[in-house]
Amino acid sequence: MLVLGIESSCDETAAAVVDGTGLVRSDVVHSQVRLHADYGGVVPELASRDHLRNIGPVVREALDRAGVSMNDIDGVAVTHRPGLVGALLVGVQAAKGIAWAAGKPLVGVDHLVGHLVAVYLRRGESDAPGPALPFVCLLASGGHTAIYRVDALDADHIAELGATRDDAAGEAFDKVAKLLGLGYPGGPAIERAAAAGDASRVALVAPMARSGSFEMSFSGIKTQVAQLVRARGGLLSASDVNDVCASFQAAVTGVLARKVIDAAARERVTDVVIGGGVAANTELRRCTTDLGAARGLRVWIPPIASCTDNAAMIAYAGALRLAAGARDPFGLVAESRTSLERSTRKGRGKR
Ligand code: KG4
Ligand code: ZN
Repeated sequence: MLVLGIESSCDETAAAVVDGTGLVRSDVVHSQVRLHADYGGVVPELASRDHLRNIGPVVREALDRAGVSMNDIDGVAVTHRPGLVGALLVGVQAAKGIAWAAGKPLVGVDHLVGHLVAVYLRRGESDAPGPALPFVCLLASGGHTAIYRVDALDADHIAELGATRDDAAGEAFDKVAKLLGLGYPGGPAIERAAAAGDASRVALVAPMARSGSFEMSFSGIKTQVAQLVRARGGLLSASDVNDVCASFQAAVTGVLARKVIDAAARERVTDVVIGGGVAANTELRRCTTDLGAARGLRVWIPPIASCTDNAAMIAYAGALRLAAGARDPFGLVAESRTSLERSTRKGRGKR
């Protein structure tokens, strides 16, 4: 089975061709990072317009690189939730047009399910088969941060064990980088600065670090950095900035790693996965691998191309749905929220 996947939920226009075993035949990602860089975050209207400009060429390139035409494709999978609705609409409408014109079935995919199956993508024939089910997965990106128990690779068998109550972890990296004048996206910039810093020279507290639950919070630590910058009148030396980055990175990656490993231990699974753009962070990779090894767990970290937003994960999640007999009507709509049930309530107030 060959599936064309299309992704446009945020600031990447992507298309890919993947087979029913997860083998990636092509994977094209057009990033809008430079378009949004001056604003320090994604501007929804600009994102939609850029998707519209690029969706056609990106799909064409994915088919060309895979060496196939629409005749060879068995179905079209598209991210239809969660995300920016105006951005999602571009991919959804393109997928409908392509599927209708070629007479192929259409399936909608929840972007988060895509991230959770990405660990099974094979980018070379010799790749390892992937984790044993059930597994526990930390998904940490610019838009989402949650820990899931995955019993099977469909939305009905995925349970949220805990999520952030406010900002996503990647969002915190981006906002702190902006406060420190390091540019966008913040994750890689903070990681580079942190490498030259000394975490012990700046005390930052990661909220809910020891709360005993798998819920998280990252807006408080961003505020601590803002207060620190204000207290110094906005004048931080380059070495101060490096120290703040090191302390911030250690606090955030430490919480993420401890929570996902504790969750895996409580759920009595043997396999742990980390994914999403923040999983590109070397400190998070090292910390999760070390804590997992100490508890006898197998930690899986997909290659970065499978962690960040891509359409190969959408194509594979779609292939699994198609193989199970799922089909969506051409009335498929874009929705801002995930279909996965949430256990964590967002926002302030008593629980
Ligand atoms: O998954 P992704 O590419 O897009 C979505 O947000 O869905 O994740 C992007 C996020 C950004 O917030 C970025 O700052 C963060 O991942 N990120 C990192 C690193 N690389 C990217 N965070 C920490 N360390 C990194 N090396
Ligand atoms: Zn994502």
